[in-house]
Amino acid sequence: MALATLSRVRPLLVCPRCRSAVAADGAAFRCTAIGCPYAEVGSFPIVGDWPVLVDFERSVLSRDEVSAWAGTSGRARRELHRSRVGAIPPAVRRIWKPVNRIAEKNIAKLIGLMPDDCRRVLVIGGGTLGNGVDALYRSAPDVELIGMDLYASDLTVVVADGHALPLADGCIDAVITQAVLEHVLDPGQVVAEIHRVLRDDGLVYAETPFLQHVHAGAYDFTRFTASGHRYLFRRFEQIDAGPVAGPGTQLLWSVDHLARGLARSQDAGRIVRALFFWLRFLDRMVPRRYANDCASGVFFLGRRSEIELTPREIVDYYPGAQRG
Ligand SMILES: C[S@@+](CC[C@H](N)C(=O)[O-])C[C@H]1O[C@@H](n2cnc3c(N)ncnc32)[C@H](O)[C@@H]1O
Ligand SMILES: [Zn+2]
Repeated sequence: MALATLSRVRPLLVCPRCRSAVAADGAAFRCTAIGCPYAEVGSFPIVGDWPVLVDFERSVLSRDEVSAWAGTSGRARRELHRSRVGAIPPAVRRIWKPVNRIAEKNIAKLIGLMPDDCRRVLVIGGGTLGNGVDALYRSAPDVELIGMDLYASDLTVVVADGHALPLADGCIDAVITQAVLEHVLDPGQVVAEIHRVLRDDGLVYAETPFLQHVHAGAYDFTRFTASGHRYLFRRFEQIDAGPVAGPGTQLLWSVDHLARGLARSQDAGRIVRALFFWLRFLDRMVPRRYANDCASGVFFLGRRSEIELTPREIVDYYPGAQRG
């Protein structure tokens, strides 16, 4: 595992509200700026080993929710995930959720693009291990991973909200955010934060759903077309971008949710999904430009830039099959 420890990350941490230095007083952090609402002792709680550096006034995570974690280390959701997934035999799991080869390929490319001495990688929404990103976690000691999420887990070092990262400007070499931007209220703000914490030519890898149904209940807000995703990362130079999974996978989502709705049962959807797993294989027969118009998800691999893509350029960018 290449996970950074809190003592390694500590010098990079700042107040998520005003970006001033933070100080640790016993069991909690506070902001050092006079007048900051988080300057009082104990403003940023620590749960287990995890500092919670969240601007509670501007986050879906509340101070009350954090207080309720006491004694659980805030890991309840992670444990729940593990017990659910752990119960499924690996062979069945691979049919249910095949390895994401696109992510594997892109993560290998990203690791290859990072200079040997600049390999500090921030994973936003890194509470669980993303599909196809394992290579990053196996790359110790070359890669130092800083996992952040809205809850504590074995893969995170700080509880933080992507809208206001508690990190100093330019201290990160690469950011990964997989299956996260659909769950944040303001993806543009999260991408602005990614831009801020990255060093000048730092890298970003993002995967975000386009045609997927609601999958995180109340915490699911947005979807992106290929062009919309590119425009979201308009202050980045594109290295590569494209569909993560195509219309077969998207159809699988649809039959699953059709069955859920008709039978009024989540389990009915899961059964239908197992029966129609083969729809995914149809993705391989669809050319990339057609897949861009109906992908299940899209990816973007890019490099931080000061030059911004213009509205006219995004129209010319369209990578789908409906060119006039
Ligand atoms: C669908 S899960 C994906 C997790 C992991 N990246 C993966 O691919 O398995 C979305 C994750 O984003 C996290 N998340 C949602 N909103 C967030 C926010 N504002 N800041 C940081 N993480 C957030 C959730 O807690 C959750 O762990
Ligand atoms: Zn502050």
